[in-house]
Amino acid sequence: MDYRILGPLEALDGERQLPLGGARQRAVLALLLLHGNETLSRDVIVDELWGEDAPATAGKVLQNCVSALRKELPPDTIRTVSGGYALTLEPDDLDRDRFERLLAEGRAALETGDHAEALDQLRRALAQWRGAPLSDLSYELFTRDEIKRLEELHVAALEDRIEAELALGHHDELVPELEALVTKHPLRERLRGQLMLALYRAGRQAEALDAYRAARRALLAELGIEPGRALRELEHAILAQVPALDVGPRRPQAVQRPGRAAASPLEGRMEELGLLEAGLDDALAGRGRLFVVVGDAGTGKTRLADELASTAKGRGTRILWGRGWAGGGAPPYWPWTQALRDALPPTINSDGPEGQFRFFEAVTQTLRDQTATQPLLLVLDDLQAADEASVLLLEFVATELPEMSALVVALGRPETARLAELERHATRTVRL
Ligand SMILES: Nc1ncnc2c1ncn2[C@@H]1O[C@H](COP(=O)(O)OP(=O)(O)O)[C@@H](O)[C@H]1O
Ligand SMILES: [Mg+2]
Repeated sequence: MDYRILGPLEALDGERQLPLGGARQRAVLALLLLHGNETLSRDVIVDELWGEDAPATAGKVLQNCVSALRKELPPDTIRTVSGGYALTLEPDDLDRDRFERLLAEGRAALETGDHAEALDQLRRALAQWRGAPLSDLSYELFTRDEIKRLEELHVAALEDRIEAELALGHHDELVPELEALVTKHPLRERLRGQLMLALYRAGRQAEALDAYRAARRALLAELGIEPGRALRELEHAILAQVPALDVGPRRPQAVQRPGRAAASPLEGRMEELGLLEAGLDDALAGRGRLFVVVGDAGTGKTRLADELASTAKGRGTRILWGRGWAGGGAPPYWPWTQALRDALPPTINSDGPEGQFRFFEAVTQTLRDQTATQPLLLVLDDLQAADEASVLLLEFVATELPEMSALVVALGRPETARLAELERHATRTVRL
Protein backbone atom coordinates (compact mmCIF):
# COMPACT_ATOMS: atom_id res chain seq x y z
CA MET A 1 0.00 0.00 0.00
CA ASP A 2 1.02 3.55 -0.61
CA TYR A 3 -0.52 6.03 1.82
CA ARG A 4 0.19 9.71 1.35
CA ILE A 5 -0.21 12.51 3.85
CA LEU A 6 2.45 14.93 2.56
CA GLY A 7 -0.25 16.77 0.62
CA PRO A 8 -3.95 15.93 0.64
CA LEU A 9 -4.68 12.44 2.02
CA GLU A 10 -4.42 9.70 -0.61
CA ALA A 11 -4.26 5.92 -0.57
CA LEU A 12 -3.02 3.94 -3.54
CA ASP A 13 -3.17 0.23 -4.07
CA GLY A 14 -0.54 -0.18 -6.75
CA GLU A 15 -1.52 2.38 -9.38
CA ARG A 16 -5.12 2.57 -8.28
CA GLN A 17 -6.22 5.51 -6.15
CA LEU A 18 -8.77 4.36 -3.58
CA PRO A 19 -11.96 6.37 -3.01
CA LEU A 20 -11.78 7.49 0.61
CA GLY A 21 -15.26 8.94 1.08
CA GLY A 22 -16.25 12.07 2.96
CA ALA A 23 -14.40 14.22 5.45
CA ARG A 24 -15.25 12.08 8.51
CA GLN A 25 -14.11 8.88 6.85
CA ARG A 26 -10.89 10.49 5.62
CA ALA A 27 -10.26 11.81 9.11
CA VAL A 28 -10.63 8.30 10.58
CA LEU A 29 -8.10 6.96 8.10
CA ALA A 30 -5.69 9.84 8.75
CA LEU A 31 -5.89 9.32 12.49
CA LEU A 32 -5.21 5.58 12.16
CA LEU A 33 -2.30 6.31 9.80
CA LEU A 34 -0.74 8.81 12.19
CA HIS A 35 -0.91 6.03 14.79
CA GLY A 36 0.06 3.18 12.45
CA ASN A 37 0.40 -0.23 14.13
CA GLU A 38 -0.94 1.19 17.39
CA THR A 39 -4.28 0.27 18.88
CA LEU A 40 -6.58 3.24 19.37
CA SER A 41 -9.64 2.66 21.53
CA ARG A 42 -12.99 3.75 20.11
CA ASP A 43 -13.30 6.32 22.89
CA VAL A 44 -9.97 7.89 22.01
CA ILE A 45 -10.89 8.04 18.32
CA VAL A 46 -14.27 9.65 19.06
CA ASP A 47 -12.52 12.11 21.33
CA GLU A 48 -9.89 13.02 18.74
CA LEU A 49 -12.44 13.42 15.96
CA TRP A 50 -15.31 15.13 17.76
CA GLY A 51 -13.73 16.52 20.91
CA GLU A 52 -15.90 17.51 23.88
CA ASP A 53 -19.22 17.72 22.07
CA ALA A 54 -19.34 14.30 20.44
CA PRO A 55 -22.92 13.49 19.44
CA ALA A 56 -24.50 10.34 20.86
CA THR A 57 -24.25 8.81 17.39
CA ALA A 58 -20.45 9.29 17.14
CA GLY A 59 -19.68 5.64 17.96
CA LYS A 60 -22.06 4.50 15.22
CA VAL A 61 -20.64 6.97 12.70
CA LEU A 62 -17.12 5.74 13.51
CA GLN A 63 -18.21 2.14 12.97
CA ASN A 64 -19.70 3.05 9.59
CA CYS A 65 -16.53 4.90 8.56
CA VAL A 66 -14.41 1.88 9.48
CA SER A 67 -16.64 -0.54 7.53
CA ALA A 68 -16.57 1.75 4.51
CA LEU A 69 -12.76 2.01 4.69
CA ARG A 70 -12.46 -1.75 5.07
CA LYS A 71 -14.34 -2.21 1.79
CA GLU A 72 -11.63 -0.23 0.02
CA LEU A 73 -8.44 -1.25 1.82
CA PRO A 74 -6.78 -4.68 1.49
CA PRO A 75 -8.28 -7.30 3.85
CA ASP A 76 -7.19 -7.08 7.50
CA THR A 77 -5.62 -3.66 7.10
CA ILE A 78 -7.82 -2.26 9.86
CA ARG A 79 -7.92 -4.78 12.65
CA THR A 80 -10.40 -4.73 15.53
CA VAL A 81 -8.39 -5.10 18.72
CA SER A 82 -10.06 -5.22 22.14
CA GLY A 83 -12.41 -2.27 21.97
CA GLY A 84 -10.43 -0.35 19.38
CA TYR A 85 -8.83 -0.37 15.97
CA ALA A 86 -5.29 -0.69 14.64
CA LEU A 87 -4.11 -0.07 11.10
CA THR A 88 -1.34 -2.31 9.83
CA LEU A 89 1.46 -0.26 8.33
CA GLU A 90 4.59 -1.68 6.74
CA PRO A 91 7.75 0.41 7.19
CA ASP A 92 7.61 2.12 3.78
CA ASP A 93 3.84 2.27 3.25
CA LEU A 94 3.45 5.87 4.37
CA ASP A 95 5.07 8.76 2.48
CA ARG A 96 5.94 10.43 5.79
CA ASP A 97 7.95 7.39 6.84
CA ARG A 98 9.70 7.21 3.46
CA PHE A 99 10.49 10.91 3.76
CA GLU A 100 11.95 10.55 7.24
CA ARG A 101 14.00 7.50 6.26
CA LEU A 102 15.48 9.21 3.21
CA LEU A 103 16.06 12.38 5.23
CA ALA A 104 17.99 10.41 7.85
CA GLU A 105 20.06 8.76 5.11
CA GLY A 106 20.77 12.12 3.52
CA ARG A 107 21.82 13.59 6.84
CA ALA A 108 24.09 10.65 7.59
CA ALA A 109 25.79 11.15 4.20
CA LEU A 110 26.08 14.87 4.88
CA GLU A 111 27.84 14.10 8.14
CA THR A 112 30.37 11.85 6.47
CA GLY A 113 31.02 14.54 3.83
CA ASP A 114 29.53 12.54 0.95
CA HIS A 115 27.65 15.51 -0.52
CA ALA A 116 26.62 13.88 -3.81
CA GLU A 117 25.03 10.96 -1.98
CA ALA A 118 23.44 13.36 0.52
CA LEU A 119 21.95 15.43 -2.31
CA ASP A 120 20.56 12.33 -3.97
CA GLN A 121 18.88 11.07 -0.79
CA LEU A 122 17.59 14.50 0.22
CA ARG A 123 16.11 15.10 -3.24
CA ARG A 124 14.35 11.76 -3.02
CA ALA A 125 13.12 12.65 0.47
CA LEU A 126 11.73 15.99 -0.69
CA ALA A 127 10.12 14.35 -3.74
CA GLN A 128 7.69 12.68 -1.33
CA TRP A 129 6.04 16.06 -0.80
CA ARG A 130 3.00 17.06 -2.91
CA GLY A 131 1.84 20.08 -0.91
CA ALA A 132 0.98 21.13 2.62
CA PRO A 133 0.69 18.00 4.79
CA LEU A 134 -2.88 16.70 5.22
CA SER A 135 -4.05 19.91 3.57
CA ASP A 136 -7.62 18.58 3.31
CA LEU A 137 -7.71 17.83 7.05
CA SER A 138 -5.74 20.73 8.46
CA TYR A 139 -8.76 22.05 10.36
CA GLU A 140 -8.94 18.81 12.39
CA LEU A 141 -7.47 19.35 15.86
CA PHE A 142 -5.71 15.99 15.91
CA THR A 143 -3.64 16.79 12.82
CA ARG A 144 -2.24 20.09 14.10
CA ASP A 145 0.83 18.94 16.01
CA GLU A 146 1.93 16.52 13.33
CA ILE A 147 1.38 19.07 10.54
CA LYS A 148 3.50 21.55 12.47
CA ARG A 149 6.24 18.99 13.06
CA LEU A 150 6.25 17.93 9.40
CA GLU A 151 6.37 21.50 8.10
CA GLU A 152 9.33 22.18 10.35
CA LEU A 153 11.03 19.01 9.16
CA HIS A 154 10.34 19.98 5.54
CA VAL A 155 12.16 23.31 5.85
CA ALA A 156 15.00 21.62 7.71
CA ALA A 157 15.27 19.08 4.87
CA LEU A 158 15.39 21.92 2.35
CA GLU A 159 18.20 23.52 4.36
CA ASP A 160 20.10 20.22 4.39
CA ARG A 161 19.62 19.81 0.63
CA ILE A 162 20.90 23.35 0.08
CA GLU A 163 23.89 22.65 2.30
CA ALA A 164 24.77 19.66 0.12
CA GLU A 165 24.35 21.76 -3.03
CA LEU A 166 26.48 24.59 -1.65
CA ALA A 167 29.22 22.08 -0.92
CA LEU A 168 28.95 20.84 -4.51
CA GLY A 169 29.39 24.38 -5.88
CA HIS A 170 25.80 25.03 -7.05
CA HIS A 171 25.73 28.55 -5.52
CA ASP A 172 24.63 30.37 -8.69
CA GLU A 173 21.47 28.32 -9.14
CA LEU A 174 20.66 28.47 -5.43
CA VAL A 175 20.41 32.26 -5.09
CA PRO A 176 16.83 32.72 -6.45
CA GLU A 177 15.51 29.76 -4.46
CA LEU A 178 17.19 31.00 -1.28
CA GLU A 179 15.78 34.51 -1.78
CA ALA A 180 12.28 33.06 -2.02
CA LEU A 181 12.84 30.84 1.03
CA VAL A 182 14.15 33.72 3.12
CA THR A 183 11.04 35.74 2.29
CA LYS A 184 8.87 32.82 3.34
CA HIS A 185 10.85 32.00 6.51
CA PRO A 186 12.40 35.34 7.50
CA LEU A 187 13.56 34.23 10.95
CA ARG A 188 15.48 31.10 9.97
CA GLU A 189 19.09 32.07 10.41
CA ARG A 190 20.42 29.02 8.63
CA LEU A 191 18.64 30.02 5.41
CA ARG A 192 19.89 33.58 5.83
CA GLY A 193 23.43 32.30 6.20
CA GLN A 194 23.08 30.04 3.19
CA LEU A 195 21.86 32.99 1.09
CA MET A 196 24.85 35.09 2.25
CA LEU A 197 27.25 32.31 1.36
CA ALA A 198 25.68 31.63 -2.05
CA LEU A 199 25.83 35.33 -2.95
CA TYR A 200 29.42 35.60 -1.78
CA ARG A 201 30.52 32.57 -3.76
CA ALA A 202 28.67 33.93 -6.81
CA GLY A 203 30.97 36.96 -6.58
CA ARG A 204 28.27 39.20 -5.12
CA GLN A 205 29.99 40.27 -1.91
CA ALA A 206 28.07 43.53 -1.43
CA GLU A 207 24.73 41.73 -1.76
CA ALA A 208 25.94 39.08 0.69
CA LEU A 209 26.54 41.82 3.25
CA ASP A 210 23.15 43.36 2.43
CA ALA A 211 21.61 39.98 3.09
CA TYR A 212 23.22 40.01 6.53
CA ARG A 213 21.82 43.46 7.31
CA ALA A 214 18.35 42.36 6.17
CA ALA A 215 18.59 39.34 8.43
CA ARG A 216 19.62 41.48 11.38
CA ARG A 217 16.74 43.92 10.79
CA ALA A 218 14.21 41.10 10.62
CA LEU A 219 15.47 39.46 13.82
CA LEU A 220 15.55 42.75 15.72
CA ALA A 221 12.12 43.81 14.51
CA GLU A 222 10.38 40.47 15.10
CA LEU A 223 12.19 39.05 18.09
CA GLY A 224 14.23 41.92 19.46
CA ILE A 225 17.42 39.87 19.25
CA GLU A 226 20.73 40.14 17.41
CA PRO A 227 21.69 37.45 14.89
CA GLY A 228 23.31 34.38 16.42
CA ARG A 229 27.02 33.79 16.51
CA ALA A 230 27.18 31.70 13.32
CA LEU A 231 25.64 34.49 11.26
CA ARG A 232 27.79 37.22 12.84
CA GLU A 233 30.92 35.19 12.22
CA LEU A 234 29.87 34.62 8.63
CA GLU A 235 29.50 38.37 8.15
CA HIS A 236 33.03 38.95 9.49
CA ALA A 237 34.40 36.19 7.31
CA ILE A 238 32.75 37.72 4.24
CA LEU A 239 34.18 41.15 5.08
CA ALA A 240 37.63 39.58 5.46
CA GLN A 241 37.15 37.35 2.40
CA VAL A 242 38.59 34.40 4.27
CA PRO A 243 39.59 31.52 1.97
CA ALA A 244 37.67 29.03 4.13
CA LEU A 245 34.45 30.42 2.63
CA ASP A 246 35.29 29.08 -0.82
CA VAL A 247 33.96 25.73 -1.94
CA GLY A 248 36.20 23.12 -0.37
CA PRO A 249 37.96 20.43 -2.35
CA ARG A 250 35.88 17.30 -2.73
CA ARG A 251 36.63 15.05 0.17
CA PRO A 252 36.49 11.46 -0.96
CA GLN A 253 35.51 9.71 2.21
CA ALA A 254 36.21 6.14 3.01
CA VAL A 255 33.15 5.66 5.16
CA GLN A 256 34.26 3.86 8.22
CA ARG A 257 31.56 2.02 10.08
CA PRO A 258 32.28 2.00 13.77
CA GLY A 259 30.79 -0.90 15.64
CA ARG A 260 31.23 -4.48 16.54
CA ALA A 261 30.90 -6.10 13.13
CA ALA A 262 34.07 -5.12 11.38
CA ALA A 263 35.51 -8.56 10.68
CA SER A 264 33.81 -10.12 7.66
CA PRO A 265 31.30 -8.36 5.44
CA LEU A 266 27.66 -9.28 5.78
CA GLU A 267 26.42 -11.58 3.04
CA GLY A 268 22.88 -11.11 1.78
CA ARG A 269 20.25 -10.22 4.39
CA MET A 270 19.69 -6.87 2.68
CA GLU A 271 15.92 -7.14 2.97
CA GLU A 272 16.02 -8.04 6.67
CA LEU A 273 18.53 -5.30 7.36
CA GLY A 274 16.41 -2.82 5.41
CA LEU A 275 13.42 -3.59 7.62
CA LEU A 276 15.44 -3.13 10.78
CA GLU A 277 16.99 0.09 9.51
CA ALA A 278 13.53 1.44 8.72
CA GLY A 279 12.69 0.66 12.35
CA LEU A 280 15.81 2.54 13.39
CA ASP A 281 14.66 5.55 11.36
CA ASP A 282 11.35 5.44 13.18
CA ALA A 283 13.12 5.22 16.52
CA LEU A 284 15.36 8.16 15.65
CA ALA A 285 12.24 10.11 14.75
CA GLY A 286 10.83 9.42 18.23
CA ARG A 287 8.56 6.53 17.34
CA GLY A 288 9.88 3.50 19.19
CA ARG A 289 9.62 0.06 17.65
CA LEU A 290 10.00 -3.57 18.67
CA PHE A 291 11.32 -6.06 16.13
CA VAL A 292 11.51 -9.76 16.79
CA VAL A 293 14.08 -11.86 14.92
CA VAL A 294 13.44 -15.60 15.02
CA GLY A 295 15.70 -18.30 13.64
CA ASP A 296 17.38 -21.54 14.58
CA ALA A 297 20.89 -21.61 16.01
CA GLY A 298 23.47 -20.32 13.56
CA THR A 299 21.02 -18.68 11.15
CA GLY A 300 22.68 -15.30 11.68
CA LYS A 301 20.47 -13.50 14.23
CA THR A 302 23.35 -12.07 16.22
CA ARG A 303 25.27 -11.17 13.07
CA LEU A 304 22.26 -9.25 11.73
CA ALA A 305 21.86 -7.35 15.00
CA ASP A 306 25.60 -6.60 14.99
CA GLU A 307 25.28 -5.03 11.57
CA LEU A 308 22.31 -2.97 12.69
CA ALA A 309 24.20 -1.87 15.81
CA SER A 310 27.08 -0.69 13.67
CA THR A 311 24.74 1.47 11.57
CA ALA A 312 22.96 2.73 14.68
CA LYS A 313 26.22 3.65 16.36
CA GLY A 314 27.27 5.63 13.31
CA ARG A 315 24.06 7.60 13.70
CA GLY A 316 24.63 8.58 17.30
CA THR A 317 22.54 5.90 18.95
CA ARG A 318 23.38 4.42 22.33
CA ILE A 319 23.64 0.63 22.11
CA LEU A 320 22.63 -1.65 24.97
CA TRP A 321 23.00 -5.39 24.64
CA GLY A 322 21.88 -8.20 26.92
CA ARG A 323 21.59 -11.92 26.34
CA GLY A 324 20.03 -14.97 27.91
CA TRP A 325 22.37 -17.42 29.61
CA ALA A 326 21.66 -21.13 29.01
CA GLY A 327 24.29 -22.46 31.42
CA GLY A 328 22.01 -22.33 34.46
CA GLY A 329 22.16 -20.26 37.62
CA ALA A 330 21.41 -16.91 36.01
CA PRO A 331 19.30 -14.63 38.24
CA PRO A 332 15.90 -13.43 37.03
CA TYR A 333 15.85 -10.72 34.35
CA TRP A 334 19.45 -11.56 33.44
CA PRO A 335 19.33 -10.11 29.87
CA TRP A 336 17.90 -6.87 31.25
CA THR A 337 20.48 -6.78 34.03
CA GLN A 338 23.24 -7.05 31.44
CA ALA A 339 21.74 -4.44 29.17
CA LEU A 340 20.89 -1.83 31.80
CA ARG A 341 23.64 -2.62 34.34
CA ASP A 342 23.78 0.12 36.96
CA ALA A 343 20.64 1.76 35.61
CA LEU A 344 18.53 -1.31 36.51
CA PRO A 345 15.88 -0.15 39.00
CA PRO A 346 16.44 -1.51 42.52
CA THR A 347 12.85 -2.78 42.87
CA ILE A 348 13.89 -5.95 41.06
CA ASN A 349 13.31 -8.04 44.19
CA SER A 350 9.79 -6.80 44.87
CA ASP A 351 7.42 -9.71 45.47
CA GLY A 352 4.05 -10.55 43.98
CA PRO A 353 2.25 -9.21 40.93
CA GLU A 354 2.15 -5.67 42.30
CA GLY A 355 5.88 -5.69 42.96
CA GLN A 356 6.50 -7.03 39.48
CA PHE A 357 4.32 -4.31 37.97
CA ARG A 358 6.25 -1.67 39.90
CA PHE A 359 9.52 -3.11 38.63
CA PHE A 360 8.25 -3.18 35.04
CA GLU A 361 7.11 0.41 35.30
CA ALA A 362 10.47 1.43 36.81
CA VAL A 363 12.38 -0.22 33.95
CA THR A 364 10.11 1.52 31.44
CA GLN A 365 10.76 4.84 33.19
CA THR A 366 14.51 4.20 33.04
CA LEU A 367 14.24 3.71 29.30
CA ARG A 368 12.09 6.83 28.96
CA ASP A 369 14.73 8.83 30.82
CA GLN A 370 17.62 7.41 28.83
CA THR A 371 15.96 7.99 25.47
CA ALA A 372 15.13 11.58 26.37
CA THR A 373 18.77 12.52 25.85
CA GLN A 374 19.97 10.04 23.24
CA PRO A 375 18.25 7.52 20.96
CA LEU A 376 18.66 3.91 21.96
CA LEU A 377 19.10 0.53 20.33
CA LEU A 378 18.39 -2.23 22.82
CA VAL A 379 19.26 -5.75 21.66
CA LEU A 380 18.07 -8.67 23.75
CA ASP A 381 19.80 -11.71 22.34
CA ASP A 382 19.30 -15.46 22.94
CA LEU A 383 15.88 -15.03 24.48
CA GLN A 384 15.35 -18.80 24.20
CA ALA A 385 17.72 -18.94 27.18
CA ALA A 386 16.03 -16.15 29.15
CA ASP A 387 13.51 -16.47 31.98
CA GLU A 388 9.87 -16.00 31.01
CA ALA A 389 9.62 -12.88 33.18
CA SER A 390 12.25 -11.19 31.01
CA VAL A 391 10.04 -11.74 27.97
CA LEU A 392 6.98 -10.53 29.88
CA LEU A 393 8.87 -7.38 30.80
CA LEU A 394 9.70 -6.90 27.13
CA GLU A 395 6.00 -7.11 26.27
CA PHE A 396 5.28 -4.51 28.93
CA VAL A 397 7.97 -2.17 27.61
CA ALA A 398 6.68 -2.68 24.05
CA THR A 399 3.36 -1.05 24.89
CA GLU A 400 5.18 2.14 25.95
CA LEU A 401 7.71 2.15 23.12
CA PRO A 402 5.81 4.24 20.53
CA GLU A 403 6.54 7.34 22.62
CA MET A 404 10.29 6.71 22.96
CA SER A 405 13.31 7.11 20.69
CA ALA A 406 14.16 3.46 21.05
CA LEU A 407 14.47 0.48 18.78
CA VAL A 408 14.27 -2.79 20.64
CA VAL A 409 15.36 -5.92 18.80
CA ALA A 410 14.58 -9.27 20.39
CA LEU A 411 16.47 -12.28 19.09
CA GLY A 412 15.49 -15.84 19.83
CA ARG A 413 15.13 -19.35 18.53
CA PRO A 414 11.66 -20.69 17.69
CA GLU A 415 11.41 -22.37 21.11
CA THR A 416 11.59 -19.05 22.99
CA ALA A 417 9.00 -18.87 25.79
CA ARG A 418 6.03 -16.52 25.12
CA LEU A 419 7.26 -16.02 21.55
CA ALA A 420 3.73 -15.75 20.11
CA GLU A 421 2.76 -13.11 22.71
CA LEU A 422 5.95 -11.22 22.05
CA GLU A 423 5.36 -11.24 18.31
CA ARG A 424 1.91 -9.76 18.85
CA HIS A 425 3.59 -6.75 20.48
CA ALA A 426 6.14 -6.38 17.71
CA THR A 427 5.97 -4.02 14.76
CA ARG A 428 7.42 -6.82 12.75
CA THR A 429 8.82 -10.32 13.06
CA VAL A 430 11.79 -11.17 10.88
CA ARG A 431 12.25 -14.91 10.28
CA LEU A 432 15.69 -16.14 9.33
N1 LIG B 1 24.67 -12.74 6.65
C1 LIG B 1 25.86 -13.21 7.09
N2 LIG B 1 27.01 -12.86 6.47
C2 LIG B 1 28.18 -13.32 6.90
N3 LIG B 1 28.34 -14.12 7.96
C3 LIG B 1 27.24 -14.51 8.64
C4 LIG B 1 25.95 -14.06 8.24
N4 LIG B 1 25.05 -14.59 9.08
C5 LIG B 1 25.73 -15.31 9.96
N5 LIG B 1 27.05 -15.29 9.71
C6 LIG B 1 28.07 -16.00 10.45
O1 LIG B 1 27.55 -17.25 10.78
C7 LIG B 1 27.81 -17.57 12.13
C8 LIG B 1 26.51 -17.77 12.90
O2 LIG B 1 25.79 -16.57 12.94
P1 LIG B 1 25.14 -16.01 14.27
O3 LIG B 1 24.75 -14.61 14.05
O4 LIG B 1 26.06 -16.28 15.40
O5 LIG B 1 23.84 -16.93 14.39
P2 LIG B 1 22.78 -16.89 15.57
O6 LIG B 1 21.96 -15.67 15.36
O7 LIG B 1 21.97 -18.11 15.43
O8 LIG B 1 23.49 -16.85 16.87
C9 LIG B 1 28.69 -16.44 12.66
O9 LIG B 1 30.02 -16.78 12.50
C10 LIG B 1 28.34 -15.29 11.76
O10 LIG B 1 29.38 -14.34 11.67
MG1 LIG C 1 23.30 -15.61 18.39
